[in-house]
Amino acid sequence: MIYLDNAATSFPKPERVIAAISRYCREIGANPGRASHRLAREASAVVARTRRLLAHLLGGVDPSRIIFTPSTTVALNLALKGLLHAGDHVLTSSMEHNSVLRPLHHLERLGITHTRIPCSPEGLLDPADVRRHLRPETRLIALVHASNVTGGLMPLAEVGALARELGLLLLVDGAQTVGALPLEPERLSIDLLAGPGHKSLLGPMGTGFLYVRPGLDLETLWEGGTGSHSESTAQPGSWPDRFESGTLNAPGLAGLAEGIAEVQERGVDAIAAHKTRIMERLYQELGLLPGVALYGPARRQECVGTLSFNVTGLASNEVAHILDTAYGIAVRPGLHCAPAAHQTIGSFPKGTVRVSVGPYTTEDEILALITAVEQILRYRR
Ligand code: ALA
Repeated sequence: MIYLDNAATSFPKPERVIAAISRYCREIGANPGRASHRLAREASAVVARTRRLLAHLLGGVDPSRIIFTPSTTVALNLALKGLLHAGDHVLTSSMEHNSVLRPLHHLERLGITHTRIPCSPEGLLDPADVRRHLRPETRLIALVHASNVTGGLMPLAEVGALARELGLLLLVDGAQTVGALPLEPERLSIDLLAGPGHKSLLGPMGTGFLYVRPGLDLETLWEGGTGSHSESTAQPGSWPDRFESGTLNAPGLAGLAEGIAEVQERGVDAIAAHKTRIMERLYQELGLLPGVALYGPARRQECVGTLSFNVTGLASNEVAHILDTAYGIAVRPGLHCAPAAHQTIGSFPKGTVRVSVGPYTTEDEILALITAVEQILRYRR
């Protein structure tokens, strides 16, 4: 199988990730922070190491400001619902995933409004448009870092500077960029960053996080046992316990630590350069094929390793089905949980065929995809 669906989750996972999960389950097994016996101490040390490694990857942020969550979606919900109050207004973009748009839609019933800033047909945001859509009650900018449909990057540095100038908070959905690009929240004026453990950090599913910059507080969305301050029925105030009630996915976090270590050892820049190089080739060669429509920025340097296309006369799920069954190539068709992004780039409601590469994707695999698309075009005629 040629796996080109890394935007959904990275695959394969490094052996060291699998070994760490297995070791946790076989040899540690205990609940982190819930007792003082040796195994519980070891469990706590595993979680603390993962937090430290992630804090280091994010440019040396305070580890206690990293809240582990089961997914980016949970992290985004915590950020939006823990931060916003009736009367607040949020600026977001027309390229967002439903993990931002659905919570914002839900929050409308509480009197929290939002504006989707329209992006270009390439799916790019003009930072000047952020200023144009400001309202006196605007409190937050919620922005995806890279589209999960086109791979196109948003102008985060400009938006961060603007947010700082205007005194607005900036929440970034890093689902497609954490581990894929150097991403340092403090350098980019990001107040809150949500990200997955199971995509470019190469960890297992069920791992994600929310980073919240020091000094910024959130309401809790759930309360319960934290293993700390058990004498009180009030939720503890200390970070990250305050937001991590309930047993953590410690085996998953053990695996995530090894995923982060793997990314660090290979080098985020080196992985990004590899993906850009093979995606440039894919974009150019698909672009030469009559009957193929490409979406997103033509300048692949402005993208992560994700690309969308369609074959004229075939539905995206038909193309994906043929690629899967006749060629053993895994891609994701349809709307990718991002209908607004497809409206923006002109592929709604039919969607696109999405190709997304990982650190282990080879040039030969990309050539196999190009050959398969050429043959599908010939067969279609
Ligand atoms: N959000 C993930 C994707 O784009 C699951 O496929």
